[in-house]
Amino acid sequence: MEPKLSPDEISQPVAPAMPKVTDQGMIPTLNNKGFMTTSLDPVSTAFTVYAGQVDGWCLDLGCAYGIATLAALENGAKIVACDMEQGHIDVLLSKVGDAAKDRIKGSVGVMPDVTFEDQSFAAILCSRALHFLNGQDIEKTVTAMGHWLQPGGKVFLVADTPYTGFWARGAKAYEQRKAEGDPWPGFIPDVTVYLPETSPTKNIMRYLNPMDPDILARVCRDAGLVVEQAAFSGRPDRNFANAHAGVIARRSDENAS
Ligand SMILES: C[S@@+](CC[C@H](N)C(=O)[O-])C[C@H]1O[C@@H](n2cnc3c(N)ncnc32)[C@H](O)[C@@H]1O
Repeated sequence: MEPKLSPDEISQPVAPAMPKVTDQGMIPTLNNKGFMTTSLDPVSTAFTVYAGQVDGWCLDLGCAYGIATLAALENGAKIVACDMEQGHIDVLLSKVGDAAKDRIKGSVGVMPDVTFEDQSFAAILCSRALHFLNGQDIEKTVTAMGHWLQPGGKVFLVADTPYTGFWARGAKAYEQRKAEGDPWPGFIPDVTVYLPETSPTKNIMRYLNPMDPDILARVCRDAGLVVEQAAFSGRPDRNFANAHAGVIARRSDENAS
């Protein structure tokens, strides 16, 4: 006969343990897609503030364990937190307090195929995830974001640049290719070329596509968005002012306020 359990004894699904923070203040992802930061760059911070001021739902795409989502919830935002890795979403949801539980929805989806209803978000953050895609998939994803935004809504995009990480030693070649008109001068077909021999290379995606603010801004313009701000977006606690490219861009329909 099945034992009778009291409600207190019924166990909830347990979120996986979040890996330890490294000495550099980064948290490894569960799926070998780099690290989540433990501090926010200025563009991500701007999202967390903006999301707290608007009425509608906002999207954090490539949220990992939710550094930006949790800050936005603190500011009163309503957030759909989406990532390709279910384990990241489980960890994030386990960190959300009762006061914010009705203002968060977790969702698993993979760019560029993930999709949401048109005009469903007031703001979208995609921080340090786009550079895992090739150029065509970045364009497809940012164009889709333009459709998911409500008129007047904003995207906040952050990507790693060619000036950070092990591939920074390819930065000169990046600039050369950019000067020659290569639309995706940062595309690295095989990142293992840049990684030290001790790095785990099993299961990592081979290619990476770091970019600078000009490239990110061009993709937004091509997607029909109005670029409000495009600049390097370093984190205050890190000594790399040009580690991230940051763009804020707006959906500007004729009837937008
Ligand atoms: C380097 S972490 C960045 C996490 C966090 N947003 C930040 O700024 O620190 C990249 C995250 O994007 C997710 N990601 C990478 N490629 C993705 C894709 N194609 N679709 C959805 N999520 C993706 C990874 O699972 C990981 O959680």
